Amino acid sequence: TQDTPALGLHIAITAGPTREPLDPVRYLSNHSSGKMGFALAAAAAELGARVSLISGPVSLPTPDGVERIDVETALQMHEASRRLAGDCDIFIGCAAVADYRAEAPAEHKIKKVESEDALTLRLVKNPDIIADIANERDAAGGRPFVVGFAAETRDLEAYARDKLTRKRLDMIVANDVSSAGLGFGADDNAALLLWRDGEGEGGESLPPQPKTQLARAVIERALGCLSVRPVH
Ligand code: C5P
Repeated sequence: TQDTPALGLHIAITAGPTREPLDPVRYLSNHSSGKMGFALAAAAAELGARVSLISGPVSLPTPDGVERIDVETALQMHEASRRLAGDCDIFIGCAAVADYRAEAPAEHKIKKVESEDALTLRLVKNPDIIADIANERDAAGGRPFVVGFAAETRDLEAYARDKLTRKRLDMIVANDVSSAGLGFGADDNAALLLWRDGEGEGGESLPPQPKTQLARAVIERALGCLSVRPVH
């Protein structure tokens, strides 16, 4: 119907930060609030979709009608995402996934060594969740439609286009996080939408607006792309 264009579709969304343990009491993480991902989940549910929200540790209430899967680490988010990706029509990676994790989290609390002024932590790369899902999608042919996010402080379009191509995404939502009051933790956001070659040449610029409104626009654009490509 007109009010619920996403009826019958399953949309999976990653949101928030990941938390990578160093020892039983410490971790590496980032300042992602989860607001954009949760707004996307709410918008998708309002538009009629079945929504799975894979969330890192955030302090936000679960939007109405959304199934929430809580995870902490990038590896857990990766596993939950892969499990859902095969069953969804649209996969949106909005999480700020930690690029690295401790190679071997200490079993016991790391003690301060009085005689040493430095401590070396060895980090290893986390999997790129969205790139993995887009790759598997390409191998299987067809679903899901994969939407990524790019937060940049300069050369927004160039970096976003590079991510779109390198990660084999269908669409990317690029945010300039250097502007005051927008992006990380804020309630408002502006975005540049870009599509993989052929679709929506040149992109579309969405002006600063509440994340709830921007989320709806992003879901509507993704739905628009689904309706013109074969879904099986
Ligand atoms: O490379 P960068 O982290 O800037 O790319 C951002 C996009 O990639 C986002 O959609 C983010 O959710 C996704 N991503 C991911 N797994 C990672 C790193 C980023 O899914 N390990």
